[in-house]
Amino acid sequence: MQLDTLLINCGQLLTMDHDSPHAKGEQMSNLPHIQDGAIGWKDGIIAFLGTSSEAEGLESSKVIDCQGMLVTPGLVDPHTHLVFGGSREHEIALKQQGVPYLEILKQGGGIHSTVEATRNASFEDLYDKATFHLKRLISYGITTVEAKSGYGLEKHAELKQLEVVKKLKENTSMEIASTFLGAHAIPKEYKDNPDEFLLEMSELFQEIKEKKLAEFVDIFCEEGVFTIEQSKRFLELAKEAGFSVKIHADEIVSLGGTELAIELGAASADHLIAASEQAVELFGTSDTVAVLLPGTTFYLNKDSYAKAREIINGGGSVALATDFNPGSSPTENIQFIMNLAMLKLKMTCEEIWNAVTVNAAKAIHKDDVSGRLKVGRKADVVVWNALNYQYVPYHYGVNHVHTVFQNGLEVAKGGAYLE
Ligand code: NIG
Ligand code: FE
Repeated sequence: MQLDTLLINCGQLLTMDHDSPHAKGEQMSNLPHIQDGAIGWKDGIIAFLGTSSEAEGLESSKVIDCQGMLVTPGLVDPHTHLVFGGSREHEIALKQQGVPYLEILKQGGGIHSTVEATRNASFEDLYDKATFHLKRLISYGITTVEAKSGYGLEKHAELKQLEVVKKLKENTSMEIASTFLGAHAIPKEYKDNPDEFLLEMSELFQEIKEKKLAEFVDIFCEEGVFTIEQSKRFLELAKEAGFSVKIHADEIVSLGGTELAIELGAASADHLIAASEQAVELFGTSDTVAVLLPGTTFYLNKDSYAKAREIINGGGSVALATDFNPGSSPTENIQFIMNLAMLKLKMTCEEIWNAVTVNAAKAIHKDDVSGRLKVGRKADVVVWNALNYQYVPYHYGVNHVHTVFQNGLEVAKGGAYLE
C-alpha cells in the first residue's frame, strides 16, 4: 500500500493504546508506547504503527524524519467554555484587591458580564470568536475539545451558542463534544426564583436533543448558584431526556457535587478543589472521570489544589482540562495545565499524559475516536519539540508543538495555526 505520510524515527511514540477504554489508578502509570517508532497514514486514517525498522520498505508519498522527537496522539481538552462574547480584563483590579470570584458574581459581574456580552453578540461574531480560540487550542496540540454553552441563560441565547458549536463541528476537522450548561448561573431576571429558571432551561432539553445540539448537560452546583437538590432534580430530568451528565462540582465550597456526580453515574465530575476526602475515594469504584482544572485554581489565586494524588491512589481516573473561559481560566494553553499538574497536583509525567489523552477522551465519550493512536483511527497526531515525554510538563510557559496533524493534514506548525 502507498501511504500518504510516514513519520519515522519518533524517539518515543506514545500510542496510549491501553487494553481498557481509560486508565484508572495504577494503570495511569502505564504509558503504552513504541521506542523509535514510526506511524503512517492514508486518506487521513492510520494505516501503519510499528518501529522505524519495521517501517523500512514501506512506500509513502511523504516521509518525515522526526529525528528522535516525541510523537503523541492529538490532545483532548474535556472542559472548555469555548463560545462567549467579550472578555473580562476590566475585573483585574477587583481580583487584585482580593474580591472573591463568587462575590464578583453576586455583585452582578463575572459570568453575568459575559452573559450580557454573549446575548448582545450576533451568531457570526460568536462563531468567528470561537473559531479564533479553537485555532489557538489546536496550536497547543489539541485536536478534540468539549464546548459548553452557559452564557445565554435564556432560551434564544443558549440555543445560539449551541448552534455555533454545531456549525464548528460541521465546518472544521476538530472532534467536538457539545454540552448544554444553561444552568451556569441564576440570571438577574430570576434572582429570586431559581427553580423557575431551571424549569425553563429544562424545557429546552427536547429541542436540543431533536436538533442534536448537545450530548451532555452540565450544572454549576455551588454556594450562591445551584444547590445539591436543584442540581439533582435538573440532571435527573436531563438523563430522562437522554443526555449524559456532568457537574461543576465542589469548585469553591464543599457542597457534595462530587458525590452527586458519582451517584448519577455522570460522565465526569469537574473541578473538585473543595471535594471532601470521602468523596474523592468514591472514584475508585466508579467510571465517572475526575476532570481537574488546575489553571482555574491558579487563576483564582487559591492555595489549595484538587486532590489528584488521593483520587489516583484510590483507583480513580483523572483527566486534565484548560477550563478555557473568560473569567476563571482565560487560557488555551493545555501545556501550562500539564506543568501545573506536575507541580501543584503532584501527578507523575506518565499520569499527566494519560490525563490529556485517553482519560480526557473518556470524560466526553470520545474514547472510541480520540486519545490514542491505533490502526484504523483518524490520524490526529502531534510531533513535539521534545526528546522525551517528561520534557513537556517540565519546561513551562512555552509552546512545544512542532507539528499538529488533523485527519492526517498539517494544521499547526512551530506552535502556530496554519491559516
Ligand atoms: O468552570 N465555575 C463556573 N464556570 C466557569 C467559569 C465561568 C466564568 O467565570 O465565566 C468555571 O470556572
Ligand atoms: Fe468550567
